[in-house]
Amino acid sequence: MSGVHAYRAALAHCTRHPRSAADAGMLEIIDDGLLVVEAGHVTAVGNAADLLPTLAPDASIADWRGKIIVPGFVDTHVHAAQLDVIASPGTDLLDWLERFTFPAEAAFADADHAALIAELFLNELLKNGTTSALVWPTVHPQSAQALFAAAHQRNLRLITGKVLMDRNCPENLRDTAETGARDSADLIARWHGKGRLGYAITPRFALTSSAAQLRSAGELLSAHPGVFMQTHLAENPAEIVAVMAAFPQARSYLDVYERFGLLRASSVFAHCIHLDAQDRARLLLPRATVAHCPTSNLFLGSGLMDLRGMLDQGQSVALASDVGGGTSFSMLATMAAAYQVAQLRGGWTPSVASLLYLATLAGARAMAAEDSIGSFAPGKEADFVVLDPAATSLIARRCELARSVNEKLFVLMTLGDDRAVNATYVMGEAARGISQLPPDSISKSLR
Ligand code: GUN
Ligand code: ZN
Repeated sequence: MSGVHAYRAALAHCTRHPRSAADAGMLEIIDDGLLVVEAGHVTAVGNAADLLPTLAPDASIADWRGKIIVPGFVDTHVHAAQLDVIASPGTDLLDWLERFTFPAEAAFADADHAALIAELFLNELLKNGTTSALVWPTVHPQSAQALFAAAHQRNLRLITGKVLMDRNCPENLRDTAETGARDSADLIARWHGKGRLGYAITPRFALTSSAAQLRSAGELLSAHPGVFMQTHLAENPAEIVAVMAAFPQARSYLDVYERFGLLRASSVFAHCIHLDAQDRARLLLPRATVAHCPTSNLFLGSGLMDLRGMLDQGQSVALASDVGGGTSFSMLATMAAAYQVAQLRGGWTPSVASLLYLATLAGARAMAAEDSIGSFAPGKEADFVVLDPAATSLIARRCELARSVNEKLFVLMTLGDDRAVNATYVMGEAARGISQLPPDSISKSLR
């Protein structure tokens, strides 16, 4: 799509990182805004009245008035291979893994299945307005390959890596320290840095990797600067007991990862519910991110993460769906759950600014892409979502009573899901593979 394209709507985006949980000063809202895009990048953002007169005569203007445009959502922890596992009732994490998740993941030995699920998974992300993600395939290299290929075709910003797991799981889901390292290195060479893609070394969790495999994961990270690391940490009490039994010499769960060189600036740790003060302090590395997975933590009964305490400590935290432990691909639903978990913990009620930040700019930082995505700063890639304050009869009625765009956003976060997403744009183009609603009109500026 060549030329200049402008999008007129209410605009909302977070302009910087908050200093504490109470810091709400980073949300910019423009009631009648214009987002101007050229060659896939934002070139201007501001009031429509100011910017319309500056557009070239052949610029197109999509009229989305009445809607709210926000940056594309970033999901910092989601399992593509668990598309068919969502809504499976395990009694807790380990039971759920054994009874539902491992059997479903075994099917990804079949490359055709992996390719089909990769497409269906990306459709779900895009229907929900998620344009960037840190994604989990399975232990099978072909499942990572399928995700990379499908994301590349749609020009998505996506980080993934084949899962490493060589013990405490079914035989047909095991690699070895050697094959895991070799397959990871092959995939890094093929995909890391290609287009908008990145590679993450992906040890499932301390329980399913031998010391030899965790050591080789740390060595891989050292050998490939710029590559990410993603894993699970301190999600469930029974899991933690099992990890400590598997690594009796470690002081704590996080210490296992640290011993093997996996606590790094580019590491993303999902869950982080049951951490002591020492581990909380060790996690405060610049760019080491906690992926907060509130729907999953509720669904699996894992616990209520201390989001407020982490933000006040300066911890980098971002939101994640954690499907299939999580119950929705929607980052709106995930924001609602984060809000509810904070309410249950008490003492702090998250603002719209905090929640939108966690679902956009915070995730951009986790992906080392805050210069490229997460807000509408000119020069950034034009990934954005059109939200509809009249998406359902109930949302429409409630939003009609709202006095501000901020309040409408809160309604959308509380009641919304994929039905509230009218359109998803990836680098200035309507996302491929899904059907989208059109704007009210597209006109030429004809200035
Ligand atoms: N810990 C290890 N594997 C998993 C997984 O697939 N989902 C969740 N929620 N936790 C895990
Ligand atoms: Zn997970």
